[in-house]
Amino acid sequence: MRIRKANKNDLATIVQLLEMSNLPTEDCAEQIGAFMLAEENKRIVAVGGLEVHGKVGLVRSVVVIPDRRRSGVGRAICAELEGRAAGAGVERLFLLTESAFSYFLGLGFELVRREDTPLEIQATKQFGGICPSTAKVMFRAVKSSSAKEWP
Ligand SMILES: CC(C)(COP(=O)(O)OP(=O)(O)OC[C@H]1O[C@@H](n2cnc3c(N)ncnc32)[C@H](O)[C@@H]1OP(=O)(O)O)[C@@H](O)C(=O)NCCC(=O)NCCS
Repeated sequence: MRIRKANKNDLATIVQLLEMSNLPTEDCAEQIGAFMLAEENKRIVAVGGLEVHGKVGLVRSVVVIPDRRRSGVGRAICAELEGRAAGAGVERLFLLTESAFSYFLGLGFELVRREDTPLEIQATKQFGGICPSTAKVMFRAVKSSSAKEWP
């Protein structure tokens, strides 16, 4: 498996993967630079995004294709996003989820109240309306030892 940055030629595939999992796609085009892809034999098997907003980051749009789930691909793409967050100087990662709360608990994220979320995260389109208001907000501190180049 190879993880690489997405480019605008990947947009249609990213949108398709997100739609398949009923995840929002409205701002994917403008955030294309935030996306990473996992590929196996040139087939895209997972996507995930990281928005960097100063010292905080938003993990978003994490999807693994159904026939590759439960084999560590989701964990790998999340680790890549965290490494890139560390490389960009991000200290705390946030995410919004309706469908995978316990999954992200397992990755070390914890629940945070919406009103305690940093303003930079509250100002994102995902937080401000694209994700349902029922989505839970989660956070975890970034391990600086995992730093990778960003973008
Ligand atoms: C959530 C998701 C990214 C996990 O990817 P994955 O590659 O299957 O996960 P991993 O292989 O790293 O981890 C698998 C473990 O997580 C658990 N898991 C997977 N999806 C889960 C979910 N939605 N909720 C709770 N646990 C979940 C599995 O049961 C498995 O546990 P096990 O090892 O004890 O069997 C994937 O299931 C997916 O694409 N779901 C649909 C989209 C989605 O909900 N994304 C999150 C949006 S914020």
